[in-house]
Amino acid sequence: MCRIVFLLAVISILCPSAEALDNGLALKPSMGWLHWERFLCNTNCDTDPNNCISESLYMQMADVMVEEGWKEAGYEYVCIDDCWPSTQRDAQGRLQADPKRFPGGIKKLADYIHAKGLKLGIYGDVGKTTCAGYPGSLGYYETDAQTFADWGVDLLKFDGCFMNWTLLGEGYMNMSKALNQTGKSILYSCEWPLYEWAFHKPNYTAIRETCNHWRNFDDVYDSWTSVKSILNWTTFYQDIIVPSAGPGGWNDPDMLVIGNFGLSHDQQETQMALWAIMAAPLLMSNDLRNICPRSKMLLQNSRIIEISQDPLGKQGYCTAKMDSFEVWERPLSKNRLAVAVLNKQEIGGARGFAVRLIPGWKICNPQCNVTQILPQYKEMGVQTQRSSIVLSVNPTGTALLTVTPISSYYKKLYKLYWKPMSIKQNTIL
Ligand code: GLA
Repeated sequence: MCRIVFLLAVISILCPSAEALDNGLALKPSMGWLHWERFLCNTNCDTDPNNCISESLYMQMADVMVEEGWKEAGYEYVCIDDCWPSTQRDAQGRLQADPKRFPGGIKKLADYIHAKGLKLGIYGDVGKTTCAGYPGSLGYYETDAQTFADWGVDLLKFDGCFMNWTLLGEGYMNMSKALNQTGKSILYSCEWPLYEWAFHKPNYTAIRETCNHWRNFDDVYDSWTSVKSILNWTTFYQDIIVPSAGPGGWNDPDMLVIGNFGLSHDQQETQMALWAIMAAPLLMSNDLRNICPRSKMLLQNSRIIEISQDPLGKQGYCTAKMDSFEVWERPLSKNRLAVAVLNKQEIGGARGFAVRLIPGWKICNPQCNVTQILPQYKEMGVQTQRSSIVLSVNPTGTALLTVTPISSYYKKLYKLYWKPMSIKQNTIL
């Protein structure tokens, strides 16, 4: 009996409270590229052919993703946002792509993307029209789900504009069922809670059972004010939203805007580090054809991506706020911890933060191994709870660490089996 109770307790600690949408997708936070923040609703292909929403934009991004190491780094979804369809459905009531901007149609685009070993995402809306005024799916959930499946689409971002909020949940659930009924696995990215928060607290159990990720808060803009507001919202509501995240379903703080115009490099590091700590989908919205090498290196930093994709699948929390610093911690597999220390003071220069003030630093009793990942990679070696390391963090920048405990048990084993003989051998050699 005791054993069963113990097992249940362990399971409830390890697993998020609700069941995830059971489509086998998003077992780790999704990674890819999404057009919205950078390319918006630019339909002007006559005067701006390079940047308008057209099939060639996604084909070019897919080409670059393969050629420039993005795919290898883990980014796999190439996602279309709003403004892709024709303003009219076809004679059978199906959505169709704008014929001028997508002459090959979406199926052909999906084939192109798949041939590159990547996946295609598309956009729709639960209501009457999309936010930019294109046809919405209200009254057409089955038809549209089937159309997307027939085209070979792998992800659907489903927006919540122009919908009576009391019907939002029902609409999102019906589309989830319709996608499931197509028999094709389509990752389902929702904005359900964002549109519901204005009226009441959303039901995150139902959301997790329905969607693979869900937007909670405003659209990201290419600015520090915007990134900061998303972080502030998340810390304020973390007790409600963090427990709902886990393999199969994730909180979505919106796109990465790294590599654009509005964030300093320190702020870009903050976005990358905190999105990894939040176990957020890593959907970049930038121009991969023309991105500065430093931003590219940051987005492809395998140590940060490893934190984002950690198999334990737990979202991190903000665990301390003091003197304009914020400490965020994410538990990782093998009892490790990722720690981000953000300097929120927007005046002056770099400031020092003593690592022993990190709440999770207790895992360094008796000892731990520390690696600094941002702002520079640095092995900090074996530390104890009393270590006097001080991190230097620039204004609006973040220091990112991983901490690996060295338990006394391992220490004992280490002492037992590690013989000075090996040193001797080295000395002889
Ligand atoms: C909403 C969404 C954005 C984007 C636009 C498109 O604002 O939140 O992410 O999809 O609509 O119109």
